Amino acid sequence: MSDTVLNRRAESPATENFPSPIVTIDARDWRLETVDPAWIDALEEGKVLYFPHLAFRLKEDEHRFLNPDINAEGSRSITLETGGRFKGVAGDEAVQAAVAAMVGRFRADAQQLVDSLLPHYRDSLRMATTSYRPKQVETRIQTWRADDKRLHVDAFAGRPNHGERILRVFANINQEGVPRVWRVGEPFEEMARKFLPRLEKYRPFHARMQQLLRKTKKLRTEYDHLMLQLHDNMKLDEDYQRNAPQLTMPFAAGSVWVCFSDHTLHAAMSGQYMMEQTMHLQPENQYDSTQSPLAILQRLTGRKLV
Ligand code: SIN
Ligand code: FE
Repeated sequence: MSDTVLNRRAESPATENFPSPIVTIDARDWRLETVDPAWIDALEEGKVLYFPHLAFRLKEDEHRFLNPDINAEGSRSITLETGGRFKGVAGDEAVQAAVAAMVGRFRADAQQLVDSLLPHYRDSLRMATTSYRPKQVETRIQTWRADDKRLHVDAFAGRPNHGERILRVFANINQEGVPRVWRVGEPFEEMARKFLPRLEKYRPFHARMQQLLRKTKKLRTEYDHLMLQLHDNMKLDEDYQRNAPQLTMPFAAGSVWVCFSDHTLHAAMSGQYMMEQTMHLQPENQYDSTQSPLAILQRLTGRKLV
């Protein structure tokens, strides 16, 4: 499959033959004053919460970091781990420290947003990596499995998560008005119904071997196997990529959006300069734990998967 095909798809008019997967929220402050419970339902149902007027503010001195060359050669993005480990920046110590401060400020903003939006998660949410992605999406060259221009749900071959949720806060920090354009797909359950019958069977022995050989950080459970199979099969299915229900969604420069990226079908088609904060949550700590990929897949297969 050539990337040109998908780029053309992104430029074509949005398909809106399914309920909108986007909920727009008119907040201007990272600490939300009021929260509509319908937003939380929508998020846990796999929709994207979009804050068109909530911007991550750069300091005057930080505009110089909007440059792809700030990303060290060979690394996909600039990352700040929860333990403080910071990598991916090309530059001297002063530059490193200044970029780390910018990324750290985004982490604090994202945490404030999630704390005020989802107070019930507060005690169980596990903060994970913060990343700054200065590279242009359109010109990124990737293998099919890493190609995020194809619709997918997040699932990582080497990092089984046993059903733990992946909540992500994104900010388009482009200063030239360039939107970050995503495609957002149909509800997870509809997609899973289509793909489940054709997935490879789980092989417990194979999963153990992968763990022993340290190809995976933990045991790949049947849940992890199915999520990875869904990720791979979706990305490889040209017909699904082109014809499945989907909405082309430009996230404006100076906006923020939040979704469970293990649940929301998404593809990043174009744009440059984005911040991203990952957080993890056990599904039993959701407002409604029946709204998780684990619960949906267990219901569809009739089996316990972890
Ligand atoms: C992804 O999470 O698949 C990509 C998000 C982006 O780069 O906009
Ligand atoms: Fe993704």
